[in-house]
Amino acid sequence: MFSLIPVLSVGLCGTKLGCGEGGCGACTVMISKYDPFQKKILHHTANACLFPICALHHVAVTTVEGIGNTKSRLHPAQERIAKSHGSQCGFCTPGIVMSMYTLLRNKPKPKMEDIEDAFQGNLCRCTGYRPILEGYRTFAVVSGFRQCLKHSGRTMMPSSLFDSSKFQPLDPTQEPIFPPELMEQKQVCFKGERVMWIQPTTLQELVALKSQYPNAKLVVGNTEVGIEMRLKNMLYPVILAPAWIPEMNAVQHTETGVTFGAACTLSSVEEVLRKAVAELPSYKTEIFQAALEQLRWFAGPQIRNVAALGGNIMTASPISDLNPVLMASGSKLTLISMEGKRTVTMDEKFFTGYRKTIVKPEEVLLSVEIPYSKEGEYFSAFKQAYRREDDIAIVTCGMRVLFQHGTSRVQEVKLSYGGMAPTTILALKTCQEDWNEKLLQDACRLLAGEMDLSPSAPGGMVEFRRTLTLSFFFKFYLTVLQKLSHNESILSLAYYQSVQYFLEVAVHVLLHLHCTLTFQTICVILSVDASEAQSVPGFVCFVSAKDVPGSNITGIANDETVFAEDVVTCVGHIIGAVIADTQEHSRRAAKAVKIKYEELKPIVTIQEAIEKQSFIKPIKRIKKGDVKKGFEESDHVLEGEMYIGGQEHFYLETHCTLAVPKGEDGEMELFVSTQNLMKTQEFTARALGVPSNRIVVRVKRMGGGFGGKETRNTILTTVVAVAAFKIGRPVRCMLDRDEDMLISGGRHPFLGRYKVGFMKNGKVKSLEVSYYSNGGNSADLSHGVMDRALLHLDNSYNIPNVSSMGFVCKTNLSSNTAFRGFGGPQGMMIAECWMSDLARKCGLPPEEVRKINLYHEGDLTHFNQKLEGFTLRRCWDECLSSSNYHARKKLIEEFNKQNRWKKRGMCIIPTKFGISFTVPFLNQAGALVHVYTDGSVLLTHGGTEMGQGLHTKMIQVASRSLGIPTSKIYISETSTNTVPNTSPTAASVSADINGMAVHNACQTILKRLEPIKQSNPKGSWEDWIKTAYENCISLSATGFYRIPDVGYNFETNEGKPFHYFSYGVACSEVEIDCLTGDHKNVRTDVVMDVGTSLNPAIDIGQIEGAFVQGIGLFTMEELRYSPEGNLYTRGPGMYKIPAFGDIPTEFYVSLLRDCPNSKAIYSSKAVGEPPLFLSASVFYAIKDAIYSAREDSGVTEPFRLDSPATPERIRNACVDTFTKMVTVLS
Ligand SMILES: Cc1cc2nc3c(=O)[nH]c(=O)nc-3n(C[C@H](O)[C@H](O)[C@H](O)COP(=O)(O)OP(=O)(O)OC[C@H]3O[C@@H](n4cnc5c(N)ncnc54)[C@H](O)[C@@H]3O)c2cc1C
Ligand code: FES
Ligand code: FES
Repeated sequence: MFSLIPVLSVGLCGTKLGCGEGGCGACTVMISKYDPFQKKILHHTANACLFPICALHHVAVTTVEGIGNTKSRLHPAQERIAKSHGSQCGFCTPGIVMSMYTLLRNKPKPKMEDIEDAFQGNLCRCTGYRPILEGYRTFAVVSGFRQCLKHSGRTMMPSSLFDSSKFQPLDPTQEPIFPPELMEQKQVCFKGERVMWIQPTTLQELVALKSQYPNAKLVVGNTEVGIEMRLKNMLYPVILAPAWIPEMNAVQHTETGVTFGAACTLSSVEEVLRKAVAELPSYKTEIFQAALEQLRWFAGPQIRNVAALGGNIMTASPISDLNPVLMASGSKLTLISMEGKRTVTMDEKFFTGYRKTIVKPEEVLLSVEIPYSKEGEYFSAFKQAYRREDDIAIVTCGMRVLFQHGTSRVQEVKLSYGGMAPTTILALKTCQEDWNEKLLQDACRLLAGEMDLSPSAPGGMVEFRRTLTLSFFFKFYLTVLQKLSHNESILSLAYYQSVQYFLEVAVHVLLHLHCTLTFQTICVILSVDASEAQSVPGFVCFVSAKDVPGSNITGIANDETVFAEDVVTCVGHIIGAVIADTQEHSRRAAKAVKIKYEELKPIVTIQEAIEKQSFIKPIKRIKKGDVKKGFEESDHVLEGEMYIGGQEHFYLETHCTLAVPKGEDGEMELFVSTQNLMKTQEFTARALGVPSNRIVVRVKRMGGGFGGKETRNTILTTVVAVAAFKIGRPVRCMLDRDEDMLISGGRHPFLGRYKVGFMKNGKVKSLEVSYYSNGGNSADLSHGVMDRALLHLDNSYNIPNVSSMGFVCKTNLSSNTAFRGFGGPQGMMIAECWMSDLARKCGLPPEEVRKINLYHEGDLTHFNQKLEGFTLRRCWDECLSSSNYHARKKLIEEFNKQNRWKKRGMCIIPTKFGISFTVPFLNQAGALVHVYTDGSVLLTHGGTEMGQGLHTKMIQVASRSLGIPTSKIYISETSTNTVPNTSPTAASVSADINGMAVHNACQTILKRLEPIKQSNPKGSWEDWIKTAYENCISLSATGFYRIPDVGYNFETNEGKPFHYFSYGVACSEVEIDCLTGDHKNVRTDVVMDVGTSLNPAIDIGQIEGAFVQGIGLFTMEELRYSPEGNLYTRGPGMYKIPAFGDIPTEFYVSLLRDCPNSKAIYSSKAVGEPPLFLSASVFYAIKDAIYSAREDSGVTEPFRLDSPATPERIRNACVDTFTKMVTVLS
């Protein structure tokens, strides 16, 4: 099987494949079908990557191509996202457009909250979401301010970056109609190579088929089976699809509850329950309300629209969101087989083991009855996940209590938990006493004993999960208490406590490649056997190290191989690759290759590398002043440590390459998603054993890069090139998301050890730091990353005496690499760690301590560079004032006094980011300008476009230099045969250096045109070009630029590593839930110096995008490995990047005025990387809030908080009765 996406990719390349597991929404399409039960046509979104192709019988699919295009007319949903700058790399855009379009088809006048809900299943890695919401806000009817957490009103930048009055209106009458021929249904059967799909239309047919094929899978939404087949290599030869059977979709209101057919989708269940809650007395709908609360946070709409209630139950996942509700409420399940029907209660006996139930193989789950609640009965459900929206639970629960009539004495309690055992479980030890504090304590004690987990329990986070079971009960206790207190006749002992809650290149290449990877960390390869792969249909050949015609040695430091030869040094190392006729066949064949290994002992963590002294030399140092003396003169000296986890790039478009051999003299054309054409060309030429002049690398655009495609793409590109070279035919490969995450490395994790000496007033005197980064199995760019970390260890603070060392640890993880900020954020994060600790130690407000340490104009940094044009203090003052810092701080203090379990925190953080490559010779760029006889200009430069708006800025530069409109200038692509030896598009300098090169080329053309212009001053651009051509004047020019005077010597601490600095300040406020560790980004204000902006809309987009990516880095995104170094977090299901709901509820970004920068093109400044670090303000605001929670427990000393600040770390840091109870009972 068999999803829709490969079918779409044949000819329709609008729908994108970002993950293949329903987690990113890039593949969103609209499904329309006639519903015979409701007798109407329904439209809903779905993920094409999971939607079974066979389930499309008599269903209409609308893709982004179907609603509008640039040739005829854009649909308003397309036009508005484009004009509001809501698209950067554009890879997520079709999916977002289709979510919006489907919403508009169902609700032409949506509310803002409908729009936010519609995007729960869509991710974007570039924009920071704000411009998308702003653009689509223009469809909304006046938005109300919502009361609950997620639905609080969003206030953001005014929409002055676009003019909504120019948008074309939405006209629902113009939408395509549903094809009438799709209204009929009958039984169908499709037989594929390995799978048979049968779609019965009656219950009898289904039951008979299940008896004939007891091992057949029933598939409705395919959101579980699809994942098992795709990612877990499961094969189900017979699939039964019951989605069209009336009884399986029926909804009945009975005397005791509502009965849903097992194939009812979660969206339809939601709709029915919502209606019931609105219409029935509230005491009857306690369970429905809890189920709705779980559904609100259940996946995204694309999943809920197709996934069935029965599918959720029968998957029997221990972290199912609905099963705890169904179990605690005692819901009834009706099962049917050829032998008849039986009804069972969902209780502690229903689940018999991991993903097992009492349901027999020949039985089908027919329906589920969710009961009404009774008077005196209360029910709640809670879920804690890594990310609030679209994430599976860490722990989830359903909780029910029934009181003896007219009293507050408990008659029955049922507490059901998910995430605490291999199945959903019921707490069996319960209390029957009055609902008061004694019951709370007794229940917590029993729960702490019963909800035990062994330290090695799968899923880890043992202490956090155990604490959550108590926290959830406490929340339930308080909720019920509050409800009881409204009913005074019952609650005579009214106890109340104030608590509030909280590539594509669309070419039809003949052959596809799939890599054979290792899943051992470090081992010796004993044998590789591809014989089984050869029996997979469509198999063409297997390539490995012996097929490399040139050198198998590759990498920036020549310490890597194209294919692993004898020894494998990380999980994901490529051993070989299979070429086959289709992507699916190549995938299957690659997995059939058998490898035998002899395992060796891996080094995985920084700590292990330090123990074994496994470093990639040299070890860098920066020293200034006299550190020893500085410590002696200090009033206090503090020592500490901080760990900052790595980060996955999660560009929406994974690595991809198309290699087209030309059949002559070793020539090959490569279409690659890369930021680095030069190295791609060089490494490919070396692997093929040909000179670089035979290899042309072309990049149209990338679906995001963020540094991940600066060098690591070459691993895949060389493999694909070797394969194409071997068979002499075009070969294409786009990595699956899990492979991409496994192979391509990410941001370096860092450990910082510091000793800081300071005065009573908070002034820093002396600093000694050691930075350790996890470089992985090769050097790649790790030294450059470490250099930048050391050069940013001061963040923005004047430290008179510094001694620092940087160690790159060699481990058996896949090589870590460049990532937006390139070590700068890690270097600065550790500075902010000791800064926040020392403010605590001095008992001074952190903002005061930060301010007295800020540099001044003319100061020398710790690497002895003089600060000129130092605008940071202006940014600081402006941010303090625009955020209304001091007044809000008082409000926060007040809030924290009033609330015990909810705390707020705020923090203001500066950044100073050095601009230039720290490798001096990379600070060069080239450009090529062709002017054609009609006056149109074809511009090429050395930079690549990955969504950062570089091409737009370069067109603006050329337009301004040549004095012609931007409409006359076009950039087609970046290629090695137009501009050679390009530096990677990185280090934020691409607009600076390529802009200067473009300007230089334009000046050459203008100079040549000068005599013609003088002889015809009133002539037009076209006239001058025509005359120039007729006078045989060259209309093509190259341009070149290098940054002057950069270069720094670590040994002598002399020279100038940076051309200039970009500055910014952010102030963030957060609210944490001390009981669950959840947090909410309340407000952020950013003031950024971007010089005289070349394009404010692009620059603001970069600031917001970087900031939100930083929120991911410091608060959400956590890479988890097995002790052997196997990456667990290999897709959006496990690895959570920020979603729409994670951006600050109020988000204000402003650009500092009147700050021209004399050192870059048209007085602008670099902006791509510098703002990312500002999101540290969110991290330290969280730490501030935790301090407040700890103070309530009588703990005031500085404490260690590692990054990211996940719910687990936040919860565990908020020490209280419950954390202590879990620790004591451990
Ligand atoms: C991106 C993503 C996010 C998710 N988020 C969540 C989440 O937040 N919370 C959560 O709980 N789950 C989540 N899931 C899991 C999944 O979506 C749910 O379990 C869903 O309800 C499964 O329904 P389905 O119709 O797609 O199942 P399918 O994949 O079609 O089937 C699942 C299993 O149920 C069996 N089955 C289905 N119907 C019957 C029947 N009538 N009788 C007998 N057996 C039957 C099938 O044989 C199969 O084994 C997520 C999944 C994805 C891909
Ligand atoms: S590609 Fe389908 S959801 Fe990501
Ligand atoms: S624009 Fe959304 S992922 Fe790039």
